[in-house]
Amino acid sequence: MRITALTSLLALTFGATASLADGVVNIYSSRHYDNDESLYQAFTEKTGIEVNRIEADADELIARLTAEGANSPADVFLTVDAGRIWRADEAGLLQAVDSEVLTSRIPAHLRHPEGHWFGMSQRARIIFYDKTEVENPPRTYEALADPAYEEQVCIRSSGNVYNQSLMASMIDALGEDGARDWAAGVVANMARDPQGGDTDQLRAIVSGECDIAVANTYYFLRGLAGGVDGLSDGIEGIGWVFPNQSDRGAHVNVAAAGVTVNAPNRDNAVAFLEYLVTDEAQAYFANQNNEYAAVPGIALAENPARLGLFRADDLNLSVLGEQNPTAQKLFNEVGWE
Ligand SMILES: [Fe+2]
Repeated sequence: MRITALTSLLALTFGATASLADGVVNIYSSRHYDNDESLYQAFTEKTGIEVNRIEADADELIARLTAEGANSPADVFLTVDAGRIWRADEAGLLQAVDSEVLTSRIPAHLRHPEGHWFGMSQRARIIFYDKTEVENPPRTYEALADPAYEEQVCIRSSGNVYNQSLMASMIDALGEDGARDWAAGVVANMARDPQGGDTDQLRAIVSGECDIAVANTYYFLRGLAGGVDGLSDGIEGIGWVFPNQSDRGAHVNVAAAGVTVNAPNRDNAVAFLEYLVTDEAQAYFANQNNEYAAVPGIALAENPARLGLFRADDLNLSVLGEQNPTAQKLFNEVGWE
């Protein structure tokens, strides 16, 4: 479990602060960026509500929330990927929130229909390629399965939730049989067995091991900002494609937050989520990880702007969770490790 200096202090006082019914909001977060701290401080300055935060891996937090049950001090659960927050909701850990602010600010496809969770920033999962090796890069996800790209494609393992969510979107677009065929085609085109994270797929373009890779945009942008070993130095050689621009759009996912089912400070939790959708917080929340705001009309940060504007798939992200079990089943069937 990853605990910041703030939260290690908190470990001593969490029980005491959580018992005060007002004045605090307790957040379980699997998003851990140092900059989140300034965001929380701004919320406290605005509302007087103090933010306590425990950070850990999403699955650890889900296990912890489950174990704590009605005694959980958690008010807000914050994680990345709709597939993951859907799992938390399926486990009965989140509650409905009826907030005019949240429903008017966040587009319907980026939130749970009954307010169990809300997308707070968007990330696109797109195609990258070696500009010197690939003359005609794939323009769609479907094309990743085209035999023309045999032994060229690198993508991480099917155990990764980002891929499971991409697969869920393919099931929605192509049907189960179509998605199975697609996955089999991608496996046939793999340059190597799936390994590493998204950054490693991009590094493999630089090293020459892969010509084509799939990764979330912010990993590439981190490399572009500099200082990423094995990537930043060769990043000028990498091109990118926002897929499916002439049909459904590029697959997007969210960092999402929901109010926990036993939130002791429910009103403060809702106030916190409503704060996160203000223009100021949206820009900050998205920018710090080179993501896109969930609320429309927020200006792009400098780094994401370098990739240009794109059409995003407006598939309701609940589908990513609903199709997650089928996605995992299809991956197994085609031997996508
Ligand atoms: Fe990530």
